Amino acid sequence: MTPPTGTTHLDTTNPVAVALVPAAGRGERLGFGVPKALVPVRGTALLTHAVRGLLTAGCVRHVVVAAPPNEVESTADLLRSAGLAADVVPGGTDRTESVRLALRHATKVIPDISVVLVHDAARAFTPAEVIRSVVAAVAAGAPAVIPVLPMADTVKQVDFTGTVLATPDRAALRVVQTPQGFDVDTLTRAYAEAGDSATDDAGLVEKIGVPVATVPGHAYAMKITTPFDLAIAESVLSTGARP
Ligand code: C5P
Repeated sequence: MTPPTGTTHLDTTNPVAVALVPAAGRGERLGFGVPKALVPVRGTALLTHAVRGLLTAGCVRHVVVAAPPNEVESTADLLRSAGLAADVVPGGTDRTESVRLALRHATKVIPDISVVLVHDAARAFTPAEVIRSVVAAVAAGAPAVIPVLPMADTVKQVDFTGTVLATPDRAALRVVQTPQGFDVDTLTRAYAEAGDSATDDAGLVEKIGVPVATVPGHAYAMKITTPFDLAIAESVLSTGARP
């Protein structure tokens, strides 16, 4: 694939990929009394699992974590004590601002960066093959790439009363996972033009008219959001089945 005009020329054999992990939220919905990124699975924080997964995938040169501003030191200590080399920067007031600050740091400390991944700490068990295929697709010329899975359930569009308005064709729908991958110029431009807070980085890229490609995701890249998800993660790890 030919890189689109105006984007950085990527070294397809050895791209410099940096992963940003926004983990500055205080969300305590899992009920552990700590932010979700610090919730333990088999005694280790989700964030630690996530950063380890990125650094051991074999294609990520550097990881930048955005932490709550008053927990930068403790987060850095947590990762250091796990033997993980990652930069921890203060996050912003919302996820968009945290990614923007992490991206600014990454481009400053690693000027030859070509591929940027944005990854949820809550998708702590994303297999290396998914991370590698996202990086490879960006390095091959796609400006934006997201891992996706087909929909297992039928989806309904409803109005505010809950009455069904439409049944979208399930075959054309996908569930989105992370890491989402971008060439650095595309993500920088999307964030420069982003107004509102966004939960989906690829959505910002769509807004500036850049096509977003997809690669196959994986069930283990599930987002750990509820105690049920946590139980599944514990169970997968205990069987040693993590790919
Ligand atoms: O709170 P919410 O579920 O929307 O957060 C989504 C992700 O964004 C979480 O990983 C959270 O840590 C991160 N976040 C952030 N900075 C904020 C708020 C949320 O990095 N100020």
